[in-house]
Amino acid sequence: MAKWHFWGEKEFSDVYENIYIRSVMEDWFSIVFKIVKEFRKVKAVGKKQIVDIGCGEGHTTKQILDRLDEHYECDLLEPNENALASAEAFLIPENNIRESYPRTLATFKPEKKYDIVFTSHTNYYWALNQKDYDVQLTKLLSFLNENGKLIILTLPEESDHYRIMLKQTYPSFNYAQYIISFYKKLGLRVEVNKLKMRMYVGDILSTKKFFDLKIFYRFIHNTDSYPSDKESREFLKKIRKCQKNDYLDFKDYSIVILKK
Ligand SMILES: C[S@@+](CC[C@H](N)C(=O)[O-])C[C@H]1O[C@@H](n2cnc3c(N)ncnc32)[C@H](O)[C@@H]1O
Repeated sequence: MAKWHFWGEKEFSDVYENIYIRSVMEDWFSIVFKIVKEFRKVKAVGKKQIVDIGCGEGHTTKQILDRLDEHYECDLLEPNENALASAEAFLIPENNIRESYPRTLATFKPEKKYDIVFTSHTNYYWALNQKDYDVQLTKLLSFLNENGKLIILTLPEESDHYRIMLKQTYPSFNYAQYIISFYKKLGLRVEVNKLKMRMYVGDILSTKKFFDLKIFYRFIHNTDSYPSDKESREFLKKIRKCQKNDYLDFKDYSIVILKK
């Protein structure tokens, strides 16, 4: 089973507290509302069958499911067993959860087809090389029934998340643009919503201290090592260059792929 380093960082609660405070709630919820709209549009015979790939602790899952009527069943897939256990505990009381799978996308063997296959910000971890990545993109399609919809939420190449990095952390086949062109080349219908996802950095920019800056560096570079002061200064320079009115815009693309 893949070990995902990001979750290891959960030991450092400061990383997450800082990030959640940073993100603009209204931007995130307008993304959630867009996704809910897409879920609602899907026509299904009987209850809508949904799977959330890499649901984490289920926060995004719950934000979406809470806004659907009751005619759905949702399966959860998440390789991190602790995260999956939290997701179950968090979702089961109020949402229609059917099965939970402690698997990666690569090791998942679905028992049925789905009307909606959803994944939010997990594509960075599916594969280490382009060939395996393409295998995962193809595999996702095989989970869908005839009228099914695949919905992928991910960052575009022009995201400030990528622009402020000191070193490239994720390969470019992770970018939204790669996924869009992959599915278009297969002749599928691909709809893209380009969304705003701002992050507040006014706190970092208004102090000479490095504490929050270094935490932010670790989040952006998906690492648990702290940057040196020299790296921190370079990172700060990039943030200063990219920010507009104390905000970075990470952006978010919702990519909707229809089988027909
Ligand atoms: C940035 S979090 C996103 C969590 C959740 N989808 C959300 O939007 O709140 C990435 C998630 O992907 C999961 N993950 C890592 N590798 C994965 C893989 N190979 N297949 C599926 N999920 C994976 C991680 O364990 C983690 O929960």
